[in-house]
Amino acid sequence: MQYDDVASELQDVLLTEKQLQARLTEMAAQIDADYAGKDLLLVGVLRGAIMVMADLSRKLRTRVEMDWMAVSSYGSGTKSSGVVRILKDLDTDLTGRNVLIVEDIIDSGLTLSWLAANLRSRGAASVEIATMLRKPEAAKVEVDVKYVGFDIPKAFVVGYGLDYAERYRNLPFIGTLAPHVYS
Ligand code: XMP
Ligand code: MG
Repeated sequence: MQYDDVASELQDVLLTEKQLQARLTEMAAQIDADYAGKDLLLVGVLRGAIMVMADLSRKLRTRVEMDWMAVSSYGSGTKSSGVVRILKDLDTDLTGRNVLIVEDIIDSGLTLSWLAANLRSRGAASVEIATMLRKPEAAKVEVDVKYVGFDIPKAFVVGYGLDYAERYRNLPFIGTLAPHVYS
């Protein structure tokens, strides 16, 4: 799906496909350097992280395994509460593994701080976080994110895995929605 297919529903393009891919190339090089000679397990958080996982993993030179989790934060509407329920757990034993959680976006940071602590408690050798996007709120929570693609403003964004009502995930760029789409 491309810009023209949904032009009337978008307000802005925040990050182009080219910008996303260029930044992922830089992040992959950094991850390759940091994990040189080590084993690495990428843990993608469904469903938003599928695009980041697919592109970032293919840019890595490091051998990796990939596994997936699905979690849901209890809470009203769009606000994350920090109470997290596992909908789909990993199939991989984390004992002694170097884990890199791959995320699409960090907003309040509550989901990820819970998830990182949960994975650490399973005996992983290390647990780090890579996210394509980070919103300003995330700075308020003590969540140490090692790899950040872009810091973005507070606006709700779609595309590149991120949805509004399950739509727009298959846009190759990140955009903001026109107000009429919400109403
Ligand atoms: P936290 O716990 O960091 O939750 O508040 C992050 C999760 O919230 C969702 N989220 C968004 N989804 N556009 C989206 O499509 C956005 O702008 C956005 N902000 C937060 C997303 O599921 C993420 O994993
Ligand atoms: Mg997500």
